[in-house]
Amino acid sequence: MKLWGGRFEEGPDKTFEEFSGSLHFDRRLLRVDIRGSQAYAEGLARVGILTEAEAATLVRAFDEILEESHDAGFEKDARDEDVHTLVIRKLKEKTGELADKIHTGRSRNEQVSLDTRLWLRGTIDHALHLLYGLMQSLLEAARRNPGAVVPGYTHLRRAQAVLWSHYLLAYFEMFFRDYDRLLNARRRTNIMPLGSGALAGSGFPIDREALARALEFQDITRNSMDVSADRDFVLDFLFAASTTLLHLSRLAEDWILYSSDEFGWLELGDGVTSGSSLMPQKKNPDSLELIRGKSGRVFGALASLFVTMKGLPMTYNRDMQEDKEPLFDAAHQLTGCLKMAQVVVESTKLKQERPAQAAAESWTVATDLAEALSRAGVPFHQAHKLVGQLVRRSIETNRQPADWTASELTAFDSRFTGGMITLMNPAEGMKTRTAPGGTAPETVAAAIEEAQRRLDHLRL
Ligand code: ARG
Repeated sequence: MKLWGGRFEEGPDKTFEEFSGSLHFDRRLLRVDIRGSQAYAEGLARVGILTEAEAATLVRAFDEILEESHDAGFEKDARDEDVHTLVIRKLKEKTGELADKIHTGRSRNEQVSLDTRLWLRGTIDHALHLLYGLMQSLLEAARRNPGAVVPGYTHLRRAQAVLWSHYLLAYFEMFFRDYDRLLNARRRTNIMPLGSGALAGSGFPIDREALARALEFQDITRNSMDVSADRDFVLDFLFAASTTLLHLSRLAEDWILYSSDEFGWLELGDGVTSGSSLMPQKKNPDSLELIRGKSGRVFGALASLFVTMKGLPMTYNRDMQEDKEPLFDAAHQLTGCLKMAQVVVESTKLKQERPAQAAAESWTVATDLAEALSRAGVPFHQAHKLVGQLVRRSIETNRQPADWTASELTAFDSRFTGGMITLMNPAEGMKTRTAPGGTAPETVAAAIEEAQRRLDHLRL
């Protein structure tokens, strides 16, 4: 069925029909399409275009359609252009001529905007829920190994020792920002477009505010042309999804490395790893690799919609139908990756000795020594140079920090004091990093509780 045709002598070419149809993907908007149409029918009754009884008949018919939509064969032989057309055809089959009134003053341009907004609002709520769960799991993981020391890296070279829990809190912060970005996307999505017509506004006295209330929208859109032309809210979501996937992908990359034999810090749960069909010994981090891999698809969805939209003349153009597949796919990948990441975080064990050893055998304590010298009155640049010389001597003589004694240290240079020898243990120097946001154990313990309070206050 078509929702147009009066002005045509011939029907559409079969190839065109197949080429332009969107039912196979916008079918998932059926539930929200029906919800929007029910609200619209009631809105038409409020202004006398339908009687109360007519609106009630339509609402009931829509309920039946939703019910039947679960049956196999619901769309059989359908040659409907899209989900909106499918629903109206079913409505006509049920209510005859009455169905012809549902579209009074309404265009598919605003309907598709409404449906996408309703669907996306629910999807964002689901993603927020999953993101919340992931953040909670990170905090629990941070609490599991309170004193564990690992080397922190820059340039993938051991830099300074940090607490494992401090490292996990870094990801908590990334995901906390992502939560905020998703909420923002929700706020921009949660605006009611009905009553805009095709582009020029509605010529019927539709009570737009009442429709917004009925569909639980925060506000109404302000310009009918903007409604038909706008997919910013989809882009906002895709951007928020992309940054979330970016963070998930970096976490995945870290943990693929950290669980390798070369690092040996993490033991991934058997349940999130795969074996090899040929090599019996293998335990591969496929769950993490797929998270890293799927992130690319989501960035692709964002780029795809940007390019689709950038040259479109005002207002609606059929190109905009191409928003849906990237949107649906990105949303699916986002929720799938969030769920997977939470399972990985919950099932991964830190093997504390290896990273502690890695921190101790390298010169992650160098900065601690230089700062101690500077606290003792040696200007920082001179302290930096002196510790650099100590590191060079140690490398030449094949010594690790723990191999030094207090007397050897003061003999190396009198600006060192005997007490500074304790700093050769990476767990010592980090105790000074008490400024908010630092890795001192008491600071991190407080940061975990502060993060928990922020998490508890999030709107779910
Ligand atoms: N399937 C269309 C889409 O997703 C619905 C809007 C159709 N509007 C139109 N003027 N052809 O964009």
